[in-house]
Amino acid sequence: MCGIVGYTGSAAASPILIEGLRRLEYRGYDSAGVAVQRDGALHLVHRTGKVDGLAQAVEQEQVAGTCGIGHTRWATHGRPSTANAHPHTSCDGRIAVVHNGIIENFVELREELEAAGHTFTSQTDTEVAAHLVEEAYAEQPDLVAAVRAATQRMAGAYGLAVVCADEPGTIVVTRKDSPIVIGMAPDGARVASDVIALIDATRDVTVMGDGELAALSPDGIVYYDAAGRVTEPKITHIDWDVDVAEKGGYPDFMLKEIHEQPRVIRDTLAGRLVNGTLAIDELDLSVEELNLIDRVYVIACGTSYHAGLIAKNLIEGWARIPTEVEVASEFRYRNPIITPTTLVVAVSQSGETADTLAAIRDARCKGAKVFGITNVIGSPVARESDGVIYTKANKEIAVASTKSFLGQVVSLTLLALLLAQVKGKMRTNQIRLLFRELADTAEHVEAILSDTSAVEEAALACKDAVSALFIGRGMGAAISYEGALKLKEISYLHAEAYAAGEMKHGPIALLDDGFPVIAIATQSPVYDKVISNLQESKARGAMIVAVATEGDEEIRKHADHVIYVPKVRDCFSAITASVPLQLLARSIAVLRGCNVDQPRNLAKSVTVE
Ligand code: G6P
Repeated sequence: MCGIVGYTGSAAASPILIEGLRRLEYRGYDSAGVAVQRDGALHLVHRTGKVDGLAQAVEQEQVAGTCGIGHTRWATHGRPSTANAHPHTSCDGRIAVVHNGIIENFVELREELEAAGHTFTSQTDTEVAAHLVEEAYAEQPDLVAAVRAATQRMAGAYGLAVVCADEPGTIVVTRKDSPIVIGMAPDGARVASDVIALIDATRDVTVMGDGELAALSPDGIVYYDAAGRVTEPKITHIDWDVDVAEKGGYPDFMLKEIHEQPRVIRDTLAGRLVNGTLAIDELDLSVEELNLIDRVYVIACGTSYHAGLIAKNLIEGWARIPTEVEVASEFRYRNPIITPTTLVVAVSQSGETADTLAAIRDARCKGAKVFGITNVIGSPVARESDGVIYTKANKEIAVASTKSFLGQVVSLTLLALLLAQVKGKMRTNQIRLLFRELADTAEHVEAILSDTSAVEEAALACKDAVSALFIGRGMGAAISYEGALKLKEISYLHAEAYAAGEMKHGPIALLDDGFPVIAIATQSPVYDKVISNLQESKARGAMIVAVATEGDEEIRKHADHVIYVPKVRDCFSAITASVPLQLLARSIAVLRGCNVDQPRNLAKSVTVE
């Protein structure tokens, strides 16, 4: 969703801000803007639409200056418009703020500020922050103190960056429940809501904590803790490749990220089997504590939720622990049964999804141990969980998650194996064998990626459909949900997934000539049942695309298009069968002329409820 950048130093600010905003584009947004200090005033430019439009306007208006802030906005309060785009300013235009998150008490604050004579020019919640800082600054002309005073009035979530025309070269930043990272580069100080926006300038960053505040200037950064005392920053070194934000010769990030998956599998598994025993020390739970676990909840949203569906099969199958998978937005508002022996596994690529975070807090309050699986070091999910596994996907740019999903599935598979090991449900040699086969999936995925002709053929057959049905049983059902989500996210082709056994209870009514049914028909204990469902679909004219196991010639009798994947155990089929579905969704989206990386209305990180 929204993105924040800021720069103060010796170089021209505008190109740095624009480049930072471009790097945040992947998060999803609908307008953008900058505020740059110049000659004792602030120069503001806002545009709806893409950062390219803002860049042109910034150039035309010759926005000069060496200190400024910028923002990409994903509309929550007020439609996407120039007036609602950030930065927002105080009445006198001398203070400008950019904000991520939601100020929950903005209605009452706005009424109070309007009664005190402030004039508002937007419908956003953010604008109250500019006026609150203005009020405080009028009392005590010190930006750090004014920002602190303003945030003390604000309820909700915020990442804030503030500049003031009267304090040249200073940016004050603070946060609560919305990420802010800061780094010092040779040419000056930078701030962003996501490390991707400053990684080309510095790899040594400070991830701010809730309530902390910092004042950036060309000479350095002063950090304050929540009590207002000056503190020493904790520096985190980011070791990703800088080219993570480049397409590396691929036409889009999604395809690049799909092709990174063998590496993700290998990196996620590296160092996990030590002397034949699984090592997941980050779990931070003793063997005794793990052994007591008698219920698991996997909580997540979107694609991460689908990784949870796969985990349920594995944890129940191997460790024999009852496991429920729940979307975080439901979990947080129910009253789930949680005891001290409940393990909650929170899965989140970004580590900042608002509903998942709220569910973590709720679960911990109720006494559960929470284990996070995330891709982002130092993210709120990582910080607020009792233990964390980092998926080694590295930064994912395409909104539709692919490599992160695979990283999550592999991490959850490790967790399931660990629980089976601790519970004594599997012998060491069995675990070793499964681990080896899990590692082999990296090569299988490479094989799938080396020849995508069958996927392309199926994509051509599906591209003009108005709707598609994904079906499977067992693991195949879980994979179907993710396949359908990928397709609708990026191609805008309506798709839904069903456990194949449910066909006769509704979805079969949809089928007629040429209706695409995409079936997960890999070798499994329920293969024959899936074949029956294909026959029923075929009999009603459906066009069948089957993802099947190499060597299965029988399937050709039932399917119009077959996409083969290498033979693996059913428990690992999610890893292999998901890849062609990712490729299929992408190819259909490309054929339909869609923006594969930045689908309409969607955001990479959903930081509001
Ligand atoms: C958004 C993204 C999805 C992602 C979901 C959950 O909807 O577009 O790709 O799966 O959020 O995000 P998380 O970061 O918590 O995994």
